[in-house]
Amino acid sequence: MHAPALRPVPSPAAFSADGPLTGRVRVPGDKSISHRALMLSALAVGRSTIDGLLEGEDVHATAGALRAMGATIVRTDGEEGVRWTVDGVGVGGLLQPATALDMGNSGTSTRLLMGLVASHPITATFVGDASLSKRPMGRVIDPLSAMGADITASPGGRLPLMVRGLSPAVPLDYRLPVASAQVKSAVLLAGLNTPGITRVIEPVPTRDHSERMLAGFGATVDLHTDPDGIRTIAVHGEAELKPQHIVVPGDPSSAAFLAVAALIVPGSDVRIENVGINPTRAGLFGVLQAMGADLTFHDMRTVGGEPVADIVVRASPLAGTDVAADIAPSMIDEYPILFVAAALAQGRTTLRGLEELRVKESDRIAAMAAGLRAIGAMVEELPDGLIIDGRDGAPFPGLPPGAAAVQTHLDHRIAMSFAVAGLAATGPVVVDDISPIATSFPTFPALLAALGARCDTAR
Ligand code: S3P
Repeated sequence: MHAPALRPVPSPAAFSADGPLTGRVRVPGDKSISHRALMLSALAVGRSTIDGLLEGEDVHATAGALRAMGATIVRTDGEEGVRWTVDGVGVGGLLQPATALDMGNSGTSTRLLMGLVASHPITATFVGDASLSKRPMGRVIDPLSAMGADITASPGGRLPLMVRGLSPAVPLDYRLPVASAQVKSAVLLAGLNTPGITRVIEPVPTRDHSERMLAGFGATVDLHTDPDGIRTIAVHGEAELKPQHIVVPGDPSSAAFLAVAALIVPGSDVRIENVGINPTRAGLFGVLQAMGADLTFHDMRTVGGEPVADIVVRASPLAGTDVAADIAPSMIDEYPILFVAAALAQGRTTLRGLEELRVKESDRIAAMAAGLRAIGAMVEELPDGLIIDGRDGAPFPGLPPGAAAVQTHLDHRIAMSFAVAGLAATGPVVVDDISPIATSFPTFPALLAALGARCDTAR
C-alpha cells in the first residue's frame, strides 16, 4: 500500500530558564474541536467558517482527507485574522478519494474519519507514520464492522488499513469497552449517514465535543445520564447539518505545558488567555490546585458553545497526591506533564488506572519513566501507571555527561514534557526530536521563549 510521508530529520533541542517566566500568552486552538469543526463543516450543506482553528499537522491531515473526499477547504488571512472556510458536501455526499489518506501522526483523524467513511458508499485506505502505525484500531474496527463496513487492516488491527463503507449502514447500540472519545465519535459520525438511531453508552464520561457540536450543527442528539453516571448519546441518522460559524477556544492540553512551566520555575507569573475549560477536559487544573498550585480562572465565558477562561498561574510549591483513576479521561493527554510536576513536588504521587497511556502516540508510561529517570527523578513503573517520589522542589540534575538525549518516540507530548522539565534542571535536558511538537502546538517553542525561556537547538 501507499507509503506515508516521512518526517523531517530529527531536531534535538534543550530548553532552560535563567529566571522567572512572565507575561501573557494565547495558546492555539483546541485540537479535538478543530478536527470536529472541519469534519462537521465538510458534512454540512453550504459554507461554514472557522476562526481559531489549530494549524497543526494533525488538523492538516484531517483537512487534506476531507478535501480528497470532496469538501472545499480554504484558509484566508484577512483584516480580521485567519479564517477557514469550508464548503460542505452534505451528509451522504463524501466522494471516493483518489489516493490513500495520509493521517501522519493523528489518531483522532484516523478514527473519526474511519467513522465517516464507514457509512458512505466509498472505499478509503488510511496510512500513517511509524507511531500511528503501531496504534490499535480494533477499537473502531469492531463497532464500524457491526454497522456494516468492510475493513481490512494490517496485522493486529493496525494501519495501513482499508475501509469499504456501506450505505445504508445499520444503526448500532454500542457500549464502549474502553473510555475513548475517539471511539464514541467514530460511531456517532458513522450514525449521521445511517437510517435510524445510533447510540453510544459510555460507562465513564469522555470529552463531549462531538455531541455538543453535532447538536450545534442541527443534528438531533439525545443525551441521557443514569443515576450511576452512565451516559447514553443517541444521534438520529440521515441528519441534515446546517453550516455554522465556529470559534475554536484555546487548547487546554497545550495550556497544560505552560501552566506547569510557570508552576515549577521560581518567581513565574503567567496569564494564559482563552483556554477551553470544558469539564470533560480540565481535570489537570483541579489536580494541580489540589497539589497546592496557585492557579486561578478569570473572565469565565462561553465561546462557541464551550466554557473558556483565562488561567493565571504563579510558581508554587507542590505536594504529591493520589490521582483517582476515574478522572483519567478528563486529563488523559495531560499525564506526561503532570508526571513532571509530580517529580518536583514534595512527597509521593501515585497515578493508577492509566493503561490507555500505553497506546497513545507512544507508550507514555514507559517513555516518561525512562526520561524522568534519566534526568534524575525517582519513578517506579507499574503496568497501569507510575509511583513518583518528588524532589521536594529541588531541580532535576539533568542528563549525566555523555548520556543519550531523552527519547520522544515521535510523541509531541513527551517532547513538550521534557522541554518543560529542562526549565527546572541544573544540567541539560536534551530532547532527541522536537519536530513532532508541530502536530499539536507549533508555536510552543516561540511561546516559551516569549515568556523568557531559552531553547538551544544545537547539541
Ligand atoms: C481525543 C480523544 C483522546 C485523546 C486524543 C484526542 C479526541 O483519545 O487522547 O488526543 O479528540 O477525541 P481517546 O478518546 O482514544 O482516549
